[in-house]
Amino acid sequence: MKPDVTSFFDEATNTVSYVVKDPKGSACAIIDSVLDFDHASGRTDTRSADDIIAHVREHNLDVHWLLETHVHADHLSAAPYIQQKVGGKIGIGERITVVQDTFGKVFNEGTEFQRDGSQFDALFKDGDIFDIGQLRGDTLHTPGHTPACLTYVIGDAAFVGDTLFMPDFGTARCDFPGGSSEMLYNSVQKILSLPQDTRIFVCHDYKAPGRDDYAWETTVAAEKAQNVHIGAGRSKDDFVAMRDARDAQLGMPKLIIPSLQVNMRAGHMPPADEQGNVFLKVPINRL
Ligand SMILES: [Fe+2]
Repeated sequence: MKPDVTSFFDEATNTVSYVVKDPKGSACAIIDSVLDFDHASGRTDTRSADDIIAHVREHNLDVHWLLETHVHADHLSAAPYIQQKVGGKIGIGERITVVQDTFGKVFNEGTEFQRDGSQFDALFKDGDIFDIGQLRGDTLHTPGHTPACLTYVIGDAAFVGDTLFMPDFGTARCDFPGGSSEMLYNSVQKILSLPQDTRIFVCHDYKAPGRDDYAWETTVAAEKAQNVHIGAGRSKDDFVAMRDARDAQLGMPKLIIPSLQVNMRAGHMPPADEQGNVFLKVPINRL
């Protein structure tokens, strides 16, 4: 089955969110939503999420799932906000517990921060199956960028998160805690072994050098043949050497500190104080 896929691009964080709809009904899933955040002022905004909610309402969609491909380090998830407005269950990979353990320590969260994934409604493991109406979703565990990364294969479409980017841009960094370029290589092989005409939808686009427009949809065949980091039969050793050298040059994403604290809580802010004020922490010399 071919799901109807509608894309929402957030230029501030280069993130693509997707509404994936059963072509024979009203059921849908929303993948990797964005809560706008202005770091300088500490202010959130729901403009991006409201666009998705308006689309859901306009087409009378029934939101079954709010899926996260991973704990994003470059934008905040709007899943709880969207859930409150239009419903749906929030799902992520079961290895989120590893990510929660790592960053629970980095942010000194103490015992009230549960590291068992209980902030999410569903924890998927490799090979789990879920439904969006008459559509079938399969989960592939595709670690490397983070230990908990999932690819959601829904009908003929694969939502690969930050494993692969467009063929002319390459792959995601593997230097966050628990990341591994070797694991990413193996995960990408899993994705490339899907049927060749599988549509691939990536989570970010930054316009590759020489390309004027943003793009986020490609195919397994195109990635396999042309991906500049890992296509055309690139060997694991070559890839790992290239990826690790590149990652050593990269600065941290602008929103990593707020993003991790919110996204490891399934998109919820940390608990408010007695006056109802919410604060995020800045760990010094920890990242
Ligand atoms: Fe990411």
